[in-house]
Amino acid sequence: MNTLITGAAGFIGFHLTKKFLSKNLSVYGIDNLNSYYDINLKKDRIKKLKKNKKFHFFKIDLCEYKKLNNIVKKNNIKIIIHLAAQAGVRKSINNPKIYFKNNLEGFFNILETSRHNKINHLIFASTSSVYGDTSKFPVNEKDNTEKPLSFYAATKKSNEVMAHSYSNIYKLPCTGVRFFTVYGPFGRPDMAYFKFTKNIINNRLIQLYNNGKHLRDFTYIDDIVDGIFSIIKKQSKKNIPFEIFNIGNGSPKKIIDYLKYIEKHLNKRARIKKLPTQLGDVIKTHSSIIKISKFSNYKPKTNIDVGIKKFIEWYKDYYKKN
Ligand SMILES: NC(=O)c1ccc[n+]([C@@H]2O[C@H](COP(=O)([O-])OP(=O)(O)OC[C@H]3O[C@@H](n4cnc5c(N)ncnc54)[C@H](O)[C@@H]3O)[C@@H](O)[C@H]2O)c1
Repeated sequence: MNTLITGAAGFIGFHLTKKFLSKNLSVYGIDNLNSYYDINLKKDRIKKLKKNKKFHFFKIDLCEYKKLNNIVKKNNIKIIIHLAAQAGVRKSINNPKIYFKNNLEGFFNILETSRHNKINHLIFASTSSVYGDTSKFPVNEKDNTEKPLSFYAATKKSNEVMAHSYSNIYKLPCTGVRFFTVYGPFGRPDMAYFKFTKNIINNRLIQLYNNGKHLRDFTYIDDIVDGIFSIIKKQSKKNIPFEIFNIGNGSPKKIIDYLKYIEKHLNKRARIKKLPTQLGDVIKTHSSIIKISKFSNYKPKTNIDVGIKKFIEWYKDYYKKN
């Protein structure tokens, strides 16, 4: 079945596309290659993917509905994995409009093209941030998500609600996947682990919020990809074909401890600038992975020590060459 992956030049999209190609499956990828972070990293990901003839890339914006719809129609797309979005909590504090455009208008276009082309399954990225500031852990899919702390989280929660209505009215099978702090090679330069590594190597101060006491359920990229892949073929048995799954690691770590692993694998100490908690930040994320584990035998395989080692190895190699 022909598959479209949006955000194919992004961190998760790149790895997921690689997984498809490694199984000899074709992928149609779209991305607008925006400049939220280093475009060269996005171009390099696409360059790597294009080495495989089964990868077909289109540089378009989700907001260009006609172009999006033509790609879906002409290529007889039956599965859409929608990962393109304006990601990141912090940028949404000063730039909510970019989130409105990409994450709400963009998502609406995905829903529209899905219904008009009778897509068999739409899988879309949501986030652990929808759980907001809860005190009950681990969070499971039935927990309250009515009080997002950031506009980024609000757009992702809105996507879930919008998808539910399309699923109900048009019988479009939809699955939302809530990712928990994803890290790994070819990762996102705006994320803490990437900035820590870069600044330690370049002898610069690293910024540590809340004394590094925030807890995050860091999840290695290969586990996220396995999680998404494991639910692709399975569809909800409910009348309204709609599901939500957490995809996390199930074992949160303090940022300060995470930093220690980075120092260990760089064999170098960080110079730290302490800062207060940022607006919109949640204190802790901890995923229950019971639902997806029962549904698909999902089991995260990579612990933080191994995951960070792989990231640092990639980082050193990539920036030596570039
Ligand atoms: N990485 C994480 O820790 C994490 C955690 C929770 C949720 N998510 C979600 O997972 C998805 C993928 O995240 P990622 O880490 O790979 O981010 P990313 O920024 O690396 O990838 C997103 C890609 O989408 C593209 N894009 C953005 N707006 C677009 C538009 N209007 N049209 C076409 N392309 C567009 C960007 O150019 C980028 O390449 C996002 O929806 C994100 O919100 C990520």
